Amino acid sequence: MNKNELKEKQTITKIKKSKNQSKIVMITAYDTLFAKLFENIADIILVGDSLNNSFRGEDDTLSITLDQMIYHAKAVCKGAPNTFVVMDMPFGTYSEKEEALKNAIKVYRETNVAAVKIEGGKDKSHIIKYLTQNSIAVVGHIGLMPQYVRSEGGYKVRGKTQEDIEQLICDAKAIEDAGAFCLVVEGVKSETTKIITNSISIPTIGIGAGKYADGQVIVWSDMLGFFEDYKPKFVRKYLDGANLIRESVKQYSDDVKKGTFPSKEESY
Ligand code: KIV
Repeated sequence: MNKNELKEKQTITKIKKSKNQSKIVMITAYDTLFAKLFENIADIILVGDSLNNSFRGEDDTLSITLDQMIYHAKAVCKGAPNTFVVMDMPFGTYSEKEEALKNAIKVYRETNVAAVKIEGGKDKSHIIKYLTQNSIAVVGHIGLMPQYVRSEGGYKVRGKTQEDIEQLICDAKAIEDAGAFCLVVEGVKSETTKIITNSISIPTIGIGAGKYADGQVIVWSDMLGFFEDYKPKFVRKYLDGANLIRESVKQYSDDVKKGTFPSKEESY
């Protein structure tokens, strides 16, 4: 798509209608620079708390604060004003429903995000219900939930046993009933995602959850090859970003040392 061509901006109604019609494309972004590049290509941009790992170098997502997420969300909204932007509510900001509402209102007041994302299944459905009843648009997130990493003792692929499949279906239905308009399904066996997707009427967006979800989400720094600490099985690397950057910076360094940069044309 041409840089100047505008893609039709998504709305909650359009996202819901995408189910069984067209796949939803979601990508993370953490700043204006990259949000601008994803504008008019992605249907949804997620300001994911994964930025705590890939952008801030922490081991998990737990230490990012609400104010830090808001800082990044503002930057993303500035870069992609024509894109439906969702922000992750960080760990510990939605444990109680009143606290969740207060924090979500702060997000709406201080940023232009269209919705917030909340990790949790049936255990969090009362929180989602309270938010949606108070005009906050919510995306659910079930399966492997990074904010549960310490309580679960690690990251585990879900949906392998009949008991877990039933739990996930129960979670998905509870989140739909609570009023969420779509559901991220992370780290779930492909066939289980298919069952979940067919069990609810809101769209599912998968990550490490196979091809049967109604859409896909990917972390930009994984797919563009900037994050090198590890590569999850489900990531497709579309660019060797880290090496391209290192080569370019090395070239710049060589040019400075040789005295060939700046040239006459690059000087006043
Ligand atoms: O934080 C994030 O980037 C996410 C995606 C992995 C869905 O929640």
